[in-house]
Formats: sequence, structure tokens, C-alpha cells
Amino acid sequence: MYVTSCELIAFSPTGTTRTVIGAVAEGIGSPASAFDLTLPDIHAPAPGEIAVIGTPVYAGRVPETAAARLRRHVRGMGRPAVLVAVYGNRAFEDALLELRDLALELGFVPVAAAAFIGEHSFSTPQWPVAEGRPDAADREKAIAFGRSVRELLDGVSGPADLSPLEVPGNIPYRQGVQPSTICPETGTQTCVLCGECARSCPSGAITLTEDRVLTEAALCLRCFACTRVCPAGARVMLHEKILEFGRMLSTQYAQRREPEFFL
Ligand SMILES: Cc1cc2nc3c(=O)[nH]c(=O)nc-3n(C[C@H](O)[C@H](O)[C@H](O)COP(=O)(O)O)c2cc1C
Repeated sequence: MYVTSCELIAFSPTGTTRTVIGAVAEGIGSPASAFDLTLPDIHAPAPGEIAVIGTPVYAGRVPETAAARLRRHVRGMGRPAVLVAVYGNRAFEDALLELRDLALELGFVPVAAAAFIGEHSFSTPQWPVAEGRPDAADREKAIAFGRSVRELLDGVSGPADLSPLEVPGNIPYRQGVQPSTICPETGTQTCVLCGECARSCPSGAITLTEDRVLTEAALCLRCFACTRVCPAGARVMLHEKILEFGRMLSTQYAQRREPEFFL
């Protein structure tokens, strides 16, 4: 099967998943179009011949928002799909299995999958977790994975010729992110009311008034997109529970994990 175009479908609040699937597409080597599901305003490109679907891992699962947007906006139409889960060096648990099942439900033929490591959203300079990842070595591996996918598809007349894709994970899937009212806060003294936080929020949880930033805590995914984009350093997560979790991750998951491929 000669692959002429590639569609990069991503949910990626802090950008690591987008970077990884971009490198996978480079390895596949066909012209690629982006279908970004991160922000509420979603525009579908013309479907590519093959889809590379990437999501981060949240609590060992596909983020609920990503799954809902995939179900709402994406159709497989019998196309081959390459599945990528990006996790913060702790574990990907059932995320890849859930993504595989979701791809089947949407009408894709899953042909390959990979788990990559990205800087953990909870990482801070003081308590780093997978800081700087994906790095140059991860990028090389993502390109190599893309090349293997290409070779796999070059060797068959269509995705149906391949045996069903097996990935690790358990059913029932583990419990995902639980509802919470924890969310980042905005320092009124430092905030310049530029609106970057609101524009970066995947769930539309942040609004601006004339003199302040309001956050609807129940909508917050705790994805840290807003704290990363704030140019004034005014948007910060101060909740002790999250800070404590970040310290635990930094100490207990300091050992470097490597990407894993399933073909
Ligand atoms: C709410 C939440 C839950 C997370 N759960 C996990 C997890 O279970 N295992 C893990 O290793 N990383 C976990 N992470 C880290 C992300 O998977 C990681 O930072 C990923 O690179 C983020 O992808 P993005 O940059 O595309 O948004 C979690 C991050 C968030 C925000």
C-alpha cells in the first residue's frame, strides 16, 4: 500500500504529543495535514490516507475531552491508523488500549502503536519530571517508528492484510481523572490581562473581564496549558495537593523511560 498523505490528529494541551506525532509523520514520509482537537474551535482538514492519532495519558487513560472530540469529529472510513500515547515518565497503563479500541469504534484499522515520553505537565524547574522530553533521542526514535510503519504498509496491499494490532492494557480500564475543583490561579498584581491563558484553554474554562481572569474550576482539565503560555508568570498552580503530587513524581519517577513500539 503506497501512502500518499497523512493526517495528524492530536489533542495536545502542552504540545509534547503534537511534537512526537510530527516526528512520526516525518518518518512515514508522506505530506501531512494537521487536525488539532486541543481547542474547542475545531476545523477538520481533508482526510489523509493514513491517520496518526496522538493523545497524552491522563491518569493512565485517554483524556476524556480527547475521547469525546475524537468521537464527535473523526471518522475512520476504513483507513489505517497509527496510535500514539505520550506520557510523563510514570506509566501509560490502559491509555494505548483505550486508544486502540476507540480507533476501531471510529472505523479505523489500527496498524501500529507507540508510547512516548513527554515532559510531565506537573513538572517544574524545582521538581522536574521528564524535563525537556521529547528530546533529540526521542525524536530519532519517533522518526524510526514512522519509517517502520511505512515499511509495514509498503509490504501489504491494504491494512486488512495485517493481523489485528495488540497493545498492552487491561479491561476494564483503570479509573481516569476524577472531578475536582482544583485549578491554577492568576496573580492579580502580575497579570497583564493579555488573554493568552483563555486562548490556550482546551475546555474554555477561562474568561477575561475588564480587570481579572475568571476560571470555571469544574471545567479545568489541570492540563497546565495556561501556566505554560502565561508571558507574565502570573498564572500558577498553587494547590498543595498538586504540588505534592509533582514532588512525588519528580522523586519516584526520575529514572528515564524509553519509547515502546507495537507493530
Ligand atoms: C491531568 C493529568 C494526568 C496525567 N496523568 C499521567 C499518567 O497517568 N501517567 C503519566 O506518565 N503522565 C501523566 N500525565 C503527564 C502527561 O501525560 C504528559 O505531560 C504529556 O506529555 C502531556 O501531553 P501534551 O504535552 O501533549 O499535553 C498527566 C498529565 C495531566 C495534565
